[in-house]
Amino acid sequence: MNTLLEVSDLAVAFGDVRAVRGVSFDLDEGETLAIVGESGSGKSLSSLAVLGLLPAQARVAGGTVRWDGRDLLTMPDDELRRLRGEELAIIFQDPLSALNPSLTVGYQIGEMFRRRRGASREEARRRAVEAMAEVGIPDAGRRAGQYPHEFSGGMRQRVMIAMALALEPRLLIADEPTTALDVTVQAQILRLLRTRQQQGLAMIIISHDLGVVARTARRVVVLYAGRAVESGTVAELYDRPAHPYTVGLMAASPSAHDPDRPPRPIDGLPPDITAPPGGCAFHPRCPLARERCRTTEPELRTVAPGRTSACHFAEEVLTRAGTTTDARA
Ligand SMILES: Nc1ncnc2c1ncn2[C@@H]1O[C@H](COP(=O)(O)OP(=O)(O)OP(=O)(O)O)[C@@H](O)[C@H]1O
Ligand code: SF4
Ligand SMILES: [Mg+2]
Repeated sequence: MNTLLEVSDLAVAFGDVRAVRGVSFDLDEGETLAIVGESGSGKSLSSLAVLGLLPAQARVAGGTVRWDGRDLLTMPDDELRRLRGEELAIIFQDPLSALNPSLTVGYQIGEMFRRRRGASREEARRRAVEAMAEVGIPDAGRRAGQYPHEFSGGMRQRVMIAMALALEPRLLIADEPTTALDVTVQAQILRLLRTRQQQGLAMIIISHDLGVVARTARRVVVLYAGRAVESGTVAELYDRPAHPYTVGLMAASPSAHDPDRPPRPIDGLPPDITAPPGGCAFHPRCPLARERCRTTEPELRTVAPGRTSACHFAEEVLTRAGTTTDARA
């Protein structure tokens, strides 16, 4: 398999504050990777940094991002913009901010075909309606003539998905793509994304919902306080997590969890990134924490084939997870 995207040791800072540090992952052609973690863990910033779309106050403070062999972080702006139009697409977490309130939705989608594909006005309109119908917007012909505020949150989310997929990108970053949607629409969108995956689309899916992740991704990266703390395939990581934080996330997730036990939130809150705790950032919340965890920050290391964990006691966690699974079976 061809590696399309290689993110290595990425760091993002606001002034002196590192909101993301040491995030690494790669993505093969047609593969889907999930990024999970609690609110504020750096999921959106990591993906925005990859596409050169960080908010003005933030900057990339380290690391490399290679796309198809090219360095995205040092690429001239116009070239990066062209790539974002042609090959790299994103569904933003906040769909309203990404739409122009004073232009009809059909016009905004159609513009993409006019600008990038040289489509005529009529052709652009036809393709915009098609793209809207494909994401399940009923009566797309009429709705193309309406403005963003005339769409519900879920419908706007579908519009964003239609725009992101319109030009058939090679990579789609989907930041909480189904959060605003009810379960029926969510299932429909996931089916559409799966069809595109089968046609070769590579995806990074960011989600709070471990159930959505299980249905879309092959591999997962878990972020905590701006750092990657675990990675592995969905199958292996869900079955035997190698980091106590992942164990906690799974226990807290209604959809990835054993239906016989109610979800149990992780005690405490993620740290303030302006003053992270010393040692392992998870230690104030970790049921396994001991002295070494308070003094020494664990490296992200390989703990099994294709598995990484940033826990001093990852092997112990892996063994415990195996025991729990056996006990439940
Ligand atoms: N514009 C900003 N100015 C200052 N700090 C910011 C800004 N945007 C994000 N941050 C901080 O950076 C950290 C990571 O933010 P990010 O948006 O990547 O989190 P996230 O994992 O996407 O969370 P969520 O699940 O809530 O979307 C957070 O602590 C956040 O407070
Ligand atoms: S290093 Fe220590 S505190 Fe951190 S996750 Fe592992 S056991 Fe818990
Ligand atoms: Mg986010």
